Amino acid sequence: MEKLNGAALKQIDEIVAAHAHEPGPVIVMLHEVQDQLGYIPFEAIEKIAAGTGTSAAEVFGVVNFYAQFTTEPKGKHVINVCLGTACYVKGAQALIDAVSEKIGAEVNHTSEDGIFSLDATRCLGACGLAPVCVIDGRVVGSATPDKIRKEIDALIAQEKAEAEMRA
Ligand code: FES
Repeated sequence: MEKLNGAALKQIDEIVAAHAHEPGPVIVMLHEVQDQLGYIPFEAIEKIAAGTGTSAAEVFGVVNFYAQFTTEPKGKHVINVCLGTACYVKGAQALIDAVSEKIGAEVNHTSEDGIFSLDATRCLGACGLAPVCVIDGRVVGSATPDKIRKEIDALIAQEKAEAEMRA
């Protein structure tokens, strides 16, 4: 497992210290850690357990219970596919399958190279554009598997170009 950097550990310490004496602190702390770091690293689970006098197992239980928490770092590019009713009816599952196959990661997971994450989301409030994906915060409406594959190809090309510039 990769080690967290000092800045992230400090952020976690500050979050734990800020909420240690509030009622129901575990959820509040988990929310803040996820907001700031994008996921819940193991170190945060240990620190939250220590700071609230519970066990790491109990904090893990909370993390696992709520679907919005993830213990996996997000990829550099995040692809959200709406699984709300309107999008589902218009073929969102085919989008999920296409993205999953393309990036080599299951839904709510990240590709092994850490470049792409695939997340399923609830209704994004853009049902008129169904099915809807959000790629790095940009809404792609009337999405088809082909359209999304092309979007991902463009990101892969961009990653390659950046890697060549660094080389
Ligand atoms: S169901 Fe997908 S945007 Fe509403």
